[in-house]
Amino acid sequence: MRLALLGCGTVGSEVVRLLHEQSADLAARIGAPLEIAGIAVRRVGRDRGDLPVDPALFTTDPLGLIKRDDVDVVVEVVGGIEPARSWLVEALRAGKSVVTANKALLAEDGAALHDAAAEGGADLYYEASVAGAIPLLRPLRESLHGDRINRVTGIVNGTTNFILSAMDATGAGFAEALEEATELGYAEADPTADVEGFDAAAKAAILASLAFHTRVGAADVHREGITEVTAADVASAKAMGCTIKLLCIAARGADTAGRETVSVRVHPAMIPLTHPLASVGDAFNAVFVEAEAAGQLMFYGRGAGGAPTASAVLGDVVAVARNRLAGARAASESAYADLAVRPMGEALTRYHISLDVADRPGVLEAVAGVFARHDVSIATVRQGPAGGGPAGRGEDADLVIVTHVAPDAALAATVRELRGLEIVRSVASVLRVEGGV
Ligand code: NDP
Ligand code: HSE
Repeated sequence: MRLALLGCGTVGSEVVRLLHEQSADLAARIGAPLEIAGIAVRRVGRDRGDLPVDPALFTTDPLGLIKRDDVDVVVEVVGGIEPARSWLVEALRAGKSVVTANKALLAEDGAALHDAAAEGGADLYYEASVAGAIPLLRPLRESLHGDRINRVTGIVNGTTNFILSAMDATGAGFAEALEEATELGYAEADPTADVEGFDAAAKAAILASLAFHTRVGAADVHREGITEVTAADVASAKAMGCTIKLLCIAARGADTAGRETVSVRVHPAMIPLTHPLASVGDAFNAVFVEAEAAGQLMFYGRGAGGAPTASAVLGDVVAVARNRLAGARAASESAYADLAVRPMGEALTRYHISLDVADRPGVLEAVAGVFARHDVSIATVRQGPAGGGPAGRGEDADLVIVTHVAPDAALAATVRELRGLEIVRSVASVLRVEGGV
């Protein structure tokens, strides 16, 4: 069994290392030796340390490598949309099995890959694309196929989880925590994809597609990052017995016409400390799956890093290699349900709203009236002197309101109207609340 490795960076170099270290075991598990036919990179002359591989295997011609007759399996760990899409479509159409960690491509144009796989009768595996080492996609695409998944809630980005965990532990602001994440090598030089939620949104699209047998792309996912989360938000969450996490939430539900739909969103949210995801700290990932018959399932582990991600890649390589030897192919994409994706405005959620208001008679009534006008029910109200101090400033008060579940559009409209009230000096923060506080 010969494989073409496209990319030899953080993940690819660990794939090479594991292939070398475990070659005998892998051969025994597959039923045939596994060899690297070639490794496509951008710079052949790059110093790759003590990587246990013949330097003659490196090439800058990925397409040439893919097309070679002696290549059975293509492993793509380069990333990005193009040229990765063209390479993988070419490989799949030619009947070569593909293993990829490329969440951006799968979320942007998974359809092109699945269609090419169907055309070429080849396997397409991508366990490493979501939550690194955690076996998650295989349970969704195989183990839970006898069940009906209702909701998937996950922490699927390690960088942002590290930042939010640091803010929670030390009281630091976002910028300070990001600096620490960069120094420790968690955040990349350009952290946009992580902190603005693009990475998590791509993973959310992949999870939703598998969970709900529906094609969901990155453009279908409502996305908000963590750059606006403040130390005050984190303190406010703590006061409520909560913590703030960047969540990806994919859920079934009816739209306003009563049709079954899915909603897929990524945003920071408060969750109670008693929620299983609240204790997921550092750069770890975890995904909480709620299924009709299985009930609640939790998947936890390392969502990034060379070796953990390479573990998932190699698991897929073993699976596709076995299939090829058996002359078989895994079940193809399951998108039969073809559910519509509900707009964010119809997603049901709860808000935690901190207001700086005038401290005088009638203020609470006026504020409550805004909620009532938008049919949003208030769950709790907490008032204290402005600034949180014991004496306060005398003229203003801090008002913290937590709502019951309502459509996001109604909650957003409530906040818009509150911002326009003369008695509301400022809307200090608005955060969604998930997980039954
Ligand atoms: P790196 O940037 O570390 O490595 C990228 C590799 O691709 C390098 O070897 C580079 O060559 C090669 N490459 C880049 N452009 C080209 C090109 N045009 N032609 C041929 N080779 C090229 O990326 P990672 O290993 O971190 O990530 C790879 C994939 O895995 C991405 O899709 C990423 O999203 C995904 N992933 C990464 C995780 C992680 O923790 N890093 C976790 C989960 C998924 P050269 O070595 O010469 O520069
Ligand atoms: N940047 C990603 C993270 C890498 O922080 O989780 C894993 O996909």
